[in-house]
Amino acid sequence: MQPLQTRRQFLQIGSLTIASGAIAIGSHQSLTQGTDESSLVTHQLLALTPACGTGGPTPSRTAGPFYTPNSPKRSSLIEPGINGTKLILTGKVLNRTCQPMARALVDVWQADQAGNYDNSGYKLRGHQFTDSQGRYRLETIVPGLYPGRVRHIHVAVQVANQPLLTTQLFFPGEAGNASDGLFNPVLLLRMNSTRTKNQAVFNFVLA
Ligand SMILES: [Fe+2]
Repeated sequence: MQPLQTRRQFLQIGSLTIASGAIAIGSHQSLTQGTDESSLVTHQLLALTPACGTGGPTPSRTAGPFYTPNSPKRSSLIEPGINGTKLILTGKVLNRTCQPMARALVDVWQADQAGNYDNSGYKLRGHQFTDSQGRYRLETIVPGLYPGRVRHIHVAVQVANQPLLTTQLFFPGEAGNASDGLFNPVLLLRMNSTRTKNQAVFNFVLA
């Protein structure tokens, strides 16, 4: 049986820069800015390889100012002191041909119920790896709003030796979605909510 990979080991395998998640994300952003040139490359890849589903690869979004490297490995971000509406987020990490990606890093960070990030510790921050069928499952809360943004969850996804995808997930039916500068309907969670719990599904498609 193989020993579990730690996040640090994973990044050492999976990225050129490698010292920390922050550096990895920085290099990713420099590679994925929306230039005409990158659009051209995307179209060429689409012509060669059928996209997964109809939407193509999951679009990237900025990490923002609140990313903290080396988050704890855990699938539940709920702990004493975290209050709010529970949210179960599940899904898969897929490649462009819809094949599930096992052992993919899924690193999440978000605001608390009041719209605040924990910038001194790791509340509402955590990473996990997909299982053999590419699945992840996260227990968290619905994030609160903070000035200037609509409700969202930050996620970084990476398969070993592949580029890091940094993106943000959005909630359907939010009044502010249409006017949020980073909103994209492709990044909407599929929600199945009842009176007692919120369940959401999102599949990441890596380029
Ligand atoms: Fe944010």
